Amino acid sequence: MLSNVRIERTESPKTKPNPEKLGFGQYFTDHMLLMDYSAEQGWHDPRIVPYAPLTLDPAAMVFHYGQAVFEGLKAYRTAEGGAQLFLPERNAKRLNRSLERMSMPKLEPGVLTEAIQALVGVDQDWIPEAEGTSLYIRPFIIATEAMLGVRASSSYLLAIVMSPVGAYFDGGLKPVDILVEPHDVRAVRGGTGAAKTAANYAGGLKAQAAAKEAGCAQVLWLDALERKYVEEVGSMNVFFRIDGQVYTPVLNGSILEGVTRGAVIELLEDWDVMFTARPLSIQELVQAAANGTLEEAFGTGTAAVISPIGGIRWNGQLYPINGGQVGELSQKLYDTITGIQRGMVRDVYGWTVPA
Ligand code: COI
Repeated sequence: MLSNVRIERTESPKTKPNPEKLGFGQYFTDHMLLMDYSAEQGWHDPRIVPYAPLTLDPAAMVFHYGQAVFEGLKAYRTAEGGAQLFLPERNAKRLNRSLERMSMPKLEPGVLTEAIQALVGVDQDWIPEAEGTSLYIRPFIIATEAMLGVRASSSYLLAIVMSPVGAYFDGGLKPVDILVEPHDVRAVRGGTGAAKTAANYAGGLKAQAAAKEAGCAQVLWLDALERKYVEEVGSMNVFFRIDGQVYTPVLNGSILEGVTRGAVIELLEDWDVMFTARPLSIQELVQAAANGTLEEAFGTGTAAVISPIGGIRWNGQLYPINGGQVGELSQKLYDTITGIQRGMVRDVYGWTVPA
């Protein structure tokens, strides 16, 4: 349970951005939530304050040894004018797994969701209404102790900021090409790949720039040991439909367990679509693309929702998928998941929670 949240409201609310030009993660709401951790007091002093820069000691351990984890989830405006969250407890559980991996103190069950509900309550009017838009919520935790010895910090800050967003990719549901990264790897088994920690993203930026250069939206990462099996795409998990069967890389310790990935798997099982999580080699996938049996591919993520993949670029060649069109299953998953998130499709799975 979250103890009393102190609320200090801003005296100068910002002008809201044009809902048609939100993009992703460019605008921030009027308030943020902060909470401190110390060895003596544990997590304490949750407070909602006007959105503003943070002040940190230059020796704060996050700057040096990278103890930083984050989450991403969204609040949606429903058809009836209410607001709801999608599977927030799964984000909370994953946050705790990330915290544990990075030697950081966990949150008690319920605390993250209650903190988010309190903040969304204060900035309610920032949830955009147009189809395809939502309020992206970014909780993060960083090490704040001023100390240069290498060990876990003894103090931390939890912050939650929120951003009204449109589609993650510029073209919305338009399929994007992805580039198989030949040199760098994102994560290795036993490393931090399954944790949502900042360094996993920093290490991927060089390859991301190379993907952009090659006309691709994101990187498709291969496993670090054999450079043979696909793992995930820059900001999403990945699914492939080959000959009517759907596959996704099996979680192996170096792949992030996406919340949307989990929801997609539940839907596939409920719809009796043949589905298997297993190792998928890049060779198998490009062969299937070349002989036309790779019927569709899509990424899944909170930010990306369901993002169809139009082609895989590997070894200098582009392997188009489904003629670069949105696949039938990708469209059905997108419609169902966004329908449930916005309260237009009945949530028979119990995935939504009032915000
Ligand atoms: C999300 O989907 O919420 C993510 O965290 C991906 C991201 C790094 C934009």
